[in-house]
Amino acid sequence: MPVIAVLGAQWGDEGKGKVVDMLAQQARMVVRFSGGDNAGHSVVNPHGEFKLHLIPSGIFNSGVACIIGNGVVINPEVLLGEMDKLNERGVDTSHLFISDRAHLIMPYHLLLDGLEEEARGGKAIGTTRKGVGPAFADKAARLGIRAGDLLDEEALRERLRSIIDYKNTILTKVYGVKALSLDEVHAQYCQYGERLVPHIRETTIMLDEAVRRGDMVILEGAQGALLDPDFGTYPYTTSSSPLAAGACLGAGLGPTRLDRALGVYKAYCTRVGGGPMPTELHDETGELIRERAHEYGTTTGRARRCGWLDTVAARYSSRINGLTGAVITRLDILDVLPSLKICVGYELDGKKIDYFPGSITALARCKPVYEELPGWQTDTTDIRTFEQLPEAARQYVLRVEELIACPVNLICVGPGREQAIEKTPIL
Ligand code: GDP
Ligand code: IMO
Ligand code: MG
Repeated sequence: MPVIAVLGAQWGDEGKGKVVDMLAQQARMVVRFSGGDNAGHSVVNPHGEFKLHLIPSGIFNSGVACIIGNGVVINPEVLLGEMDKLNERGVDTSHLFISDRAHLIMPYHLLLDGLEEEARGGKAIGTTRKGVGPAFADKAARLGIRAGDLLDEEALRERLRSIIDYKNTILTKVYGVKALSLDEVHAQYCQYGERLVPHIRETTIMLDEAVRRGDMVILEGAQGALLDPDFGTYPYTTSSSPLAAGACLGAGLGPTRLDRALGVYKAYCTRVGGGPMPTELHDETGELIRERAHEYGTTTGRARRCGWLDTVAARYSSRINGLTGAVITRLDILDVLPSLKICVGYELDGKKIDYFPGSITALARCKPVYEELPGWQTDTTDIRTFEQLPEAARQYVLRVEELIACPVNLICVGPGREQAIEKTPIL
């Protein structure tokens, strides 16, 4: 049985949670490998409807070990709240494990995320303000506190002392806000520790054992390739890598152990937050998609920007991920449209190009070149085989497959676990 990475292939919110929930039925382990509670993964299954931010979407299966990997930054308060909510609804979380190497989001990260965004004014990134960027910055600056630090309260206090001194200087002298109290932060995190310590493990050993046993392991991505700090629309990106390479690093798996890299694409595009998006629609079609699909952020409630499918961007994310297959979600949202557009190239300063520019100023000048395809105007939500899809829907999927140069494994036609069509087997 293989190791499968489920990766966001656009700007996030592609439906990764749904896909992981589906695949987890056959898996023994699910590992979240990047981001923090900036992610919001919706799952609709026989247990109900859930919005997960940190807990892997395999949690509904008691036989699936769910790991929050070293590549995730954890706000302990959010995590505990999420565990409580699941428990209240009868979902067991005793099979949740936390990497001792995962960094923690601290109160100063939350403050600084907001203060830095305010300071950016009109150039704000539109972060989720969950402290994720500042926590990853501290990881790189070697100023982080990790889950494993909760295991030793005295050592935690010593480490916190010097870090809080430094953070307080920035908070008071640069931003003119109140300093944080070492005692309060320490006491608070010791309290979190009391509940979290039983879940903290050297998770790479668990992962290695699962892989050696031949268990099916899912690596659950957060965000999407176009938000990657290296390959996304920098600086309008997140701060950890949502790519297949990031999956290996953030779970603690050697790249040679990854069997499948599955890219999740919406049948159109959405983006939440700032930064260029060539196919964004400012017309009634964009509005129709937003309302029909209820495109409002799972984490922040912000309206998502909507547009036609961009296959220049899609092909690019397939390439940098080395995708072995694609999942197309939300095909049903397009059911009512009389015709559909697919962006097949860009026009940049009067010249046609077929690549995704590295510079956002160039990307912002790119005008999409569209191909128009007929719509199907048929409800697809109850369809379960590719052959039963209306001809125009099949043609749409086949054209997308050709343009992104990657086989389509699954097509989703609704939020429910069973609302999916297998086109080509993943394995
Ligand atoms: P994630 O962050 O990638 O897990 O995606 P989100 O959960 O933030 O957003 C995806 C939304 O689409 C959620 O509300 C899902 O329930 C929903 N969804 C997923 N697949 C489908 C689908 O095929 N059709 C419809 N109508 N909704 C879907
Ligand atoms: P899931 O896992 C969509 C976006 C934010 C902002 C940028 C930086 O649900 O797909 P951050 O808080 O990370 O510093 O914000 O990244 N962003 C997401 N957009 N889905 C997500 O996660 C996102 N996580 C971050 O909106 O533009
Ligand atoms: Mg989401």
